[in-house]
Amino acid sequence: MNAQTPLEVIILAAGKGTRMFSDTPKVLHKLAGKPLLGHVVDCAQSLGAQGVHVVIGHEADKIKIAFRDASVHWAYQEDQLGTGHAVMQAMPNVASGSTVLVLYGDVPLTTEKTLRELLSQTANDTLAVLTVISDDPTGLGRIVRDPNQNPIAIVEEKDANEQQKLIKETNSGILAATAAKLSQWIGQLKTENAQGEYYLTDVIAMAVADGTAVKTVVASDDKEVLGVNNRQQLATLERHYQLQQADKLLLSGVTLADPNRIDIRGKLTCGRDVELDINCIVEGTVSLGNRVKIESNVYLKDTVIGDDTVVHANSHIEGVQVSQACSIGPFARLRAGTVLHDKAKIGNFVETKKADIGVGSKVNHLSYIGDAELGSGVNIGAGTITCNYDGLNKFKTLIADGVFVGSNTALVAPVSLGKDSTIGAGSTITSNVETNSLAIGRAKQREISGWKRPTKK
Ligand code: UD1
Ligand code: CA
Repeated sequence: MNAQTPLEVIILAAGKGTRMFSDTPKVLHKLAGKPLLGHVVDCAQSLGAQGVHVVIGHEADKIKIAFRDASVHWAYQEDQLGTGHAVMQAMPNVASGSTVLVLYGDVPLTTEKTLRELLSQTANDTLAVLTVISDDPTGLGRIVRDPNQNPIAIVEEKDANEQQKLIKETNSGILAATAAKLSQWIGQLKTENAQGEYYLTDVIAMAVADGTAVKTVVASDDKEVLGVNNRQQLATLERHYQLQQADKLLLSGVTLADPNRIDIRGKLTCGRDVELDINCIVEGTVSLGNRVKIESNVYLKDTVIGDDTVVHANSHIEGVQVSQACSIGPFARLRAGTVLHDKAKIGNFVETKKADIGVGSKVNHLSYIGDAELGSGVNIGAGTITCNYDGLNKFKTLIADGVFVGSNTALVAPVSLGKDSTIGAGSTITSNVETNSLAIGRAKQREISGWKRPTKK
């Protein structure tokens, strides 16, 4: 393909996916948190495709809904009459002067690099086929070559003779050709084969017959062309992908306690000397500053964490912005809209939501801080709850610099605590507290002397 030829990508995704035993269409099953089809669409777009055409049939509506925001064109294949028939359905929507690349909605890990290499073979009308050397070629189409090693045909397992079955070079299914040639060949496909299907693979023999050059590119890693037919294969590709992500992190200077025990389902960026202990999960877009330390079993989603912060084990953090040198957890749950300023500290069994926690402020134990603004140097005692919700509406709690809240306090919002005020332990605070004052809102202690405990009857 020369740089001027527009690229059109056809993605086949009409098949049933019976072996997934699922009510979810196969191509919507997720790898690294993204639908299989999403990996393929993203890859097509990164190649600069002017059009991405997805052929759907089984559960087409579910797929269209899941991809309603994607920039793709849909083609319908009512009955699955074969891979050639599937391509046929999309061909009318493909621009005539283009190069067409055929991909598969259930083959998620093909790299841009390999596909660019394949496309580079398509100059001068050449048909380019991506092949792979398979240890176990059972079930796959075999690449048949002439004595000069030129590819002359692809023979499906069910149509192959004993000698052809010995061939280890197999068809990935991925191929590229000019739209003009491909339409011509697709129009001539017949169903005279063991499965009575329109085989896309027959275009190889047609190209050879009409004198069109056929070139192959051999995928260096079979994982690049592996399709997902069942959940075992999905798990295999997931682990492969995760190990690749782990290797990239290690080689970029991130310490991972165990590259086999990390899951990146999105994008993780790290500063220098970042450390992640085992079993961390990253979703969405997460950024970790220099020297950030994440202990084991931490879940991070759409979060930014500043330099020198430590996240202790078993914390769950989503939609949060953390400044520098903060300390979080163990067992903390930071929900969306939480902002921690420098040196803030959130301890164990603390939940926060839409909470802005000022410089050096501490919420160390067993608290819920929601819809709240805390100034700097605030100390929130164990078991403090912001009562932010009356069952219908949410209200704010404002806590100024230097406030000390005693343990087991209920702050009934809307309420504000003035600068340097102190709240006695066990208080229920329902009205605003003045600067520098002490507020106590609890029943006065009574004593009954000589009290006899009940005895057993
Ligand atoms: C196909 C190739 C085979 C190759 C193998 C790699 C053909 C004839 N054979 O075989 O050479 O080694 O892939 O995995 O192309 N699909 C449709 N509509 C259809 C039929 C298939 O959309 O009518 C889609 C399926 O959803 C699937 C893909 O095309 O994603 C491949 O179809 P499948 O039936 O699995 O092809 P194979 O017989 O495995
Ligand atoms: Ca298959």
